[in-house]
Amino acid sequence: AALGSREGDKLKDLAHNTKDMTDKDRLTTDYGVKQSTADDWLKAGSNDKTGPLLLEDPFARERIMRFDHERIPERVVHARGAGAFGKFRVYDGIDEFTSAPVLTDTSRETPVFVRFSTVLGSRGSMDTARDVRGFAVKFYTEEGNWDLVGNDIPVFFIQDAIKFPDVIHAGKPEPHNEVPQAQSAHNNFWDFQFNHTEATHMFMWAMSDRAIPRSWRMMQGFGVNTFTLINAKGERHFVKFTWTPELGVHSLVWDEALKLGGQDPDFHRKDLWEAIANGVFPKWKFGIQAIPEADEHKFDFDILDATKVWPEDLVPTRYIGEMELNRNPDEFFTQVEQIAFCTSHIVPGIGFSDDPLLQGRNFSYFDTQISRLGVNFEELPINRPTCPVMNFNRDGALRHTITRSTVNYWPNRFSACPPATAAEGAYVEYAQKVAGIKARLRSTKFQDHFSQAQLFWNSMTPIEKHHIIAAFAFELDHCEDPVVYSRMVNRLADIDFALAQTVAERVGGDVPTEPGRPNHGRRAPALSQIEFPGEAP
Ligand code: HEM
Repeated sequence: AALGSREGDKLKDLAHNTKDMTDKDRLTTDYGVKQSTADDWLKAGSNDKTGPLLLEDPFARERIMRFDHERIPERVVHARGAGAFGKFRVYDGIDEFTSAPVLTDTSRETPVFVRFSTVLGSRGSMDTARDVRGFAVKFYTEEGNWDLVGNDIPVFFIQDAIKFPDVIHAGKPEPHNEVPQAQSAHNNFWDFQFNHTEATHMFMWAMSDRAIPRSWRMMQGFGVNTFTLINAKGERHFVKFTWTPELGVHSLVWDEALKLGGQDPDFHRKDLWEAIANGVFPKWKFGIQAIPEADEHKFDFDILDATKVWPEDLVPTRYIGEMELNRNPDEFFTQVEQIAFCTSHIVPGIGFSDDPLLQGRNFSYFDTQISRLGVNFEELPINRPTCPVMNFNRDGALRHTITRSTVNYWPNRFSACPPATAAEGAYVEYAQKVAGIKARLRSTKFQDHFSQAQLFWNSMTPIEKHHIIAAFAFELDHCEDPVVYSRMVNRLADIDFALAQTVAERVGGDVPTEPGRPNHGRRAPALSQIEFPGEAP
C-alpha cells in the first residue's frame, strides 16, 4: 500500500505468477505428483551392491532433462546486468510539449523496472570493467509500456544503425581466441575506432571516468537518441532525455576498478541490492532538453546525430520528474533476465525522430528478443503491461494467454475488438512531411566528427585529463599491433596536441610533431554548473 495504488497494481500482477516455498510444501514432479526422494535414481541392485541406473525412472529423467535446458541465449549485447523495481513521478508537468500523462499528470505514480548493464562483457563478466553502462527503464504506464533504453554516456559510437554489428564485433573478444574478455585494450577495438572517425567523441567519453562508475546509483542516464514529444495541439518538439542521480556522479579510479574486478566481480549488483534492502532507495531526477520543430536546422550540428550532445548552454535541461528504486526483484532470471526492453515501445504523446540510429534500434530489439525469449515474450509477467492487452495474435511457442472469442481477425461480424479512436487513446502518428530522394545519405553536418570530442576534452578538469591520458596509455599499450597504436596516437592529435604527445610518450609510438587540426577551445558546462530547479515536492 505504501507504494501507491498503481505501483501496487504491477506488483499484484506479478504476484499472480509468484509462489512462496515453505515447509508445508512437498516436492512434486513437474506434473504435480508427490515424490518420495530427492536423492536416489531408480536402480537395479541391492543394499549390498549398487546396480546400474534404470532409464525408466521418469522422475529422475524429468529432473535431469529439465535442468539440461535451463540456459537461454544471453543478450547479444548488455548481457551482464541487474535491476530493480521502483516508481516515477513527474512534478513539473510538461503539457506544453506532450499529451503523454506519464509526463504531464503530477498525481500519477508510474511503476518502473530499471536494468543496469555493461555492454560488451558476457553474462558472467565483472561489473567494474571499463565500458559503457546501460540504463534501461520500463515505465508501466496506464497507456501501455514506455521503454526508455539508454546508457550512462550521452553519445554513441555510430550515427547509423547499420554499423552496429561492426562496432560490437570490434569491441567483443577477438574471433579467433576470444581474448580479451575484459572490455578493454585490444587491437580490433582500436583498429575500428581509428577507421571509423565518427566514434571519436564517444571514445573520449569511454576513456574518461564515466566508463568506470563507482555505483549504478551514482550514474547519469541518457536516452542518447533524439525522440519527439507531441502536445494536445499537435505541435512537435525534438527532445533528449536525461537521468541525474541524487547522490551525484561518482567514479572509481582505474586501480580500484581493476582490483574490484578480481576481488568482487559483483560489486555493482551487490551495491544496488544492499542499498535497496537497507531502505536507502536510490533516486534520479528526470530532465528533458527540447527544441521546437521549426528550429531543427538552427545548430551547427545535426540534432539527429547520436554522436553529438546538445550543449546545455544552447539547450538547457529542464528537470521535471523523479524516479526512485525501492524494491529488489523476487527472482533474477524471471525478472531481470527475461525483461525485454524495446525502443519501439512508446506511448501516445511520445514519438521517434529521423535519427538513423534510433530507427534501426527500433527494429533490432524486438527482433533479438524473438530469438532470445521467443515470440510470446510480451506475455511474460515482467513484460506485460498493467493496462489491458487485446489483439488477434495467436499461437507461437509457449503462448499461454487464452483469448475467449470465436473470431481472430478484423473486421469481423461481431465488431469484436475494433481499433480505437484518438479520443479513446489510440496512438496516432504525427503527420510528418517527408520529402527527398531515396539514397544512402546523411546530412553533411553528420560529417563533423571532431568538434565535440574537443569540446569534451576541453571541459575536463586537470585530474580528469590525467585519468583520460592514463586510460589511453593503458589501452593502447596493450595493443600489440604497432599500426593500431601509432595510428590511434595520431588520431588523438586531431583532438588535442598535448593529449596526443603525452599518450605517445607513454605508449612508445612516434610522438606527433604537429596538431591534426586546431583545437577550437570551446568548453561544455560542467555538471556542477547545471542548476536543478527546486526539489520534488
Ligand atoms: C540491448 C542501449 C544502440 C541493439 C541494449 C540495452 C541497453 C541498450 C541499455 C540493454 C537492455 C537490457 O537491459 O535488457 C543502447 C543505446 C544505444 C544502443 C543507448 C545507442 C544509442 C543499439 C543499436 C542496436 C542495438 C544501434 C542495433 C541496431 C541492441 C540489442 C540488445 C541491446 C540487440 C539486446 C536486447 C535484448 O536481448 O534484450 N541496448 N543500445 N542497440 N541493444 Fe542497444
